[in-house]
Amino acid sequence: MKVTVVGAGAVGASCAEYIAIKNFASEVVLVDIKESFAEGKAMDLMQTASLNGFDTKITGSTNDYSRTAGSNIAVITSGIPRKPGMTREELIGINAGIVKSVSEQLIKYSPDVILIIVSNPMDTMTYLTHKVTGLPKNRIIGMGGALDSARFKYRLAEAMGCPASDIDGMVIGGHSDTGMVPLTRLATRNSVRVSEFLSTERLQKVLEDTKVGGATLTGMLGTSAWYAPGAAVSSLVQAIACDQQKMFTCSVLLDREFGLNDLCIGVPVILGKNGIEKIVEIKLDEAELNQLQVSAEGVKATNTLLHDLNL
Ligand code: 2OP
Repeated sequence: MKVTVVGAGAVGASCAEYIAIKNFASEVVLVDIKESFAEGKAMDLMQTASLNGFDTKITGSTNDYSRTAGSNIAVITSGIPRKPGMTREELIGINAGIVKSVSEQLIKYSPDVILIIVSNPMDTMTYLTHKVTGLPKNRIIGMGGALDSARFKYRLAEAMGCPASDIDGMVIGGHSDTGMVPLTRLATRNSVRVSEFLSTERLQKVLEDTKVGGATLTGMLGTSAWYAPGAAVSSLVQAIACDQQKMFTCSVLLDREFGLNDLCIGVPVILGKNGIEKIVEIKLDEAELNQLQVSAEGVKATNTLLHDLNL
């Protein structure tokens, strides 16, 4: 199993590290445009192999995509990250051109690759990748919901003073501060609804903290977060590589599911060896459907900005 990670910055390197530590891939290729940067990150990571007990071979390449040939899965993290106070949507002008050329290069050398998009604004970058590559829709997956759901579980666990492993919950909708729809109604602690443990006010605070999860960390760190994004990506890669048939929220191209069409947005999906095996059309209540609809309008508004970019 060969995995390429494009962008050897904090998110890309963290993703490569988690993939290696989980020890399911034979090879990870890190690619970056900065001279010798990916090679340096790869060497540093390889020097942890005997310490962390993994056999995955990690190599680096300065923008030479021939080194990625035959990749089964490729992760695109390239582009500029958020600075404090910036929205993910503000990155579109620079990141769209980068994501377009990176996805074209990847497909040139790995025609059967499954692409996972991390670059922001993620839902729009996933949609753009569909438009420029024309790949079947099961092979383009946007990473956002898996991360947002992990942040939701963290906030629920924090509010209840319990381990996150006690919590089940998911966030659907767009990967943006205003677009996320945490499904509080369905979240549980060991099968018991979270509303049994937390007041409406406390749940509202959990919901608000979840939605600004990325922005909070950007303010604290001066740039985008990387551990949780890297871990979330590695879980998606593992689910595909190991054909786990596992359920995540991912941004995928919708064709009338949830009443939505011609956009990529976070919904529950099953991931396995074919990428997206199935979209799980769970029953939402009226309020949740309305929130998803509003979120979709926001994503579509960002998608229209692609027209002005002459890509
Ligand atoms: C985040 O939310 C990088 O968009 C990513 O941290």
